[in-house]
Amino acid sequence: MKVLVTGGLGFIGSHTVVALLEHGYDVVVIDNLYNSKEVVKDRIKEITHKDFKTVIADVQNEVELEKIFKEDKIDAIIHFAGYKAVGESVSKPVEYYENNLDSTFALLKMMKKYGTKNFVFSSSATVYGEPKRVPMYEIDPVTEATSPYGETKVMIERILKDVAKVNPDYNIALLRYFNPIGAHKSGLLGEDPNGIPNNLLPYIAKVATGQLKEVSVFGNDYDTPDGTGVRDYIHVVDLAKGHVLALKKLETKPGLCIYNLGTGKGTSVLEMIHYYEEACGHKIPYVIKERRAGDIATSYANCDKAKEELGFTCDYSVLDACKDGYHFQVEEEKRKAEGK
Ligand code: UD1
Repeated sequence: MKVLVTGGLGFIGSHTVVALLEHGYDVVVIDNLYNSKEVVKDRIKEITHKDFKTVIADVQNEVELEKIFKEDKIDAIIHFAGYKAVGESVSKPVEYYENNLDSTFALLKMMKKYGTKNFVFSSSATVYGEPKRVPMYEIDPVTEATSPYGETKVMIERILKDVAKVNPDYNIALLRYFNPIGAHKSGLLGEDPNGIPNNLLPYIAKVATGQLKEVSVFGNDYDTPDGTGVRDYIHVVDLAKGHVLALKKLETKPGLCIYNLGTGKGTSVLEMIHYYEEACGHKIPYVIKERRAGDIATSYANCDKAKEELGFTCDYSVLDACKDGYHFQVEEEKRKAEGK
C-alpha cells in the first residue's frame, strides 16, 4: 500500500513515516519545510534503514502534487501539513484559513481525479472548543473553536464529512489528537520549534537545557487539583502508531470514522514540570503568571472507541515522553553546536 504523507518531515509526520515504513508501507512525503528540516529525511532513513520518495514542495503547488499522483498510485493520504500556532492564527486568520483549507482542497481534487479512496486527517481536541464535559467523547458536540487555527480543524472536519456523504466508497478517518509530546528513542527525531516555543513541553525543554530562564505557568487558579491547566499528553510514538491502526481500519471500508487519540489521563502543568525534573535530573525554575487567553482548565480524552475499534493503547508514560524529549533536545543542541 502506498501512502502519501503531507508534512511528513514535521514532528508528528516524521514519527508516523517511521511507523509506516516499519510496518511495510510504501511512503511518499510532500513537505515544504515551513516548519521542518530536510535533514529529517536522512534521519528517518537512518532509523528505519528504508528509503522513500520525498518531494520538497507545497501541497498547494498543484503541478508538483499532480506529478506525485501521476507517477505513483497513491492508495491513501495522511494529511498533516498545515499551520498550527494558535496565537499566530489569531493575528493571521486569512493565512491560516487559506493555507489549511486550500491544501485540503488540492488533495481532495487529486483523490477524485486519480481514484484515491482513503484519507486520514490530523484533527485536534481543539474541535471540542470549551468542552461540555471531560473526558471528551467523539460524540460530543464540535463547537466553535477558540482560535482561527482551531476553526480550520472544525471546517476541514465538516468538509470531509460532506465529502464522505456523497462518496460512499471513500474511507476517511478524523483523528483528534490531544497533546503530542516526546521524541523518538534514538534522539534523532523530535520537536524543536524555531524561536520561543508556544507549547508547554518545547518550552520546558529549552529551560531544562539552559536556553531559557524559567517556565511561565499560565494561571494557578483553575478549578483543577493544583490550580494549573490539565491536559492529556500523549507520546508522539504512540500517536504515530495510531495512524498505522487507522489505515488498517480504513482497509475494512468503514466510510467516515472519528477517533480521539490520547491517553485518557490528565496531567497538570506543575506535574509536567516535576516529571521533566525527574527526566533531566535537575530543578526546572518556574514562575506563576496570569492565565493565557483562550485556555481551558481541563482537557483529556475518552479513548475507549480507539481502543475497541482500532486496538489502540499507549505503550509510553508521560515520564517516558519527558525522558525521550529531553534526550532529543540534548542531542539536537550537540548537533547544532557541531553545525549539523
Ligand atoms: C494547543 C492547541 C491544540 C494543539 C496543541 C499543540 C488549542 C485550544 N489548543 O494545546 O489544538 O494541538 O496546542 O500544538 O487550540 N502552558 C504554560 N506555560 C507555557 C505554555 C503552556 O503554563 O509556556 C500551559 C497552558 O496554559 C496549558 C498547558 O500548559 O494549560 C498546555 O499548553 P500547550 O502546550 O500550549 O497546549 P494546548 O494549549 O493544550
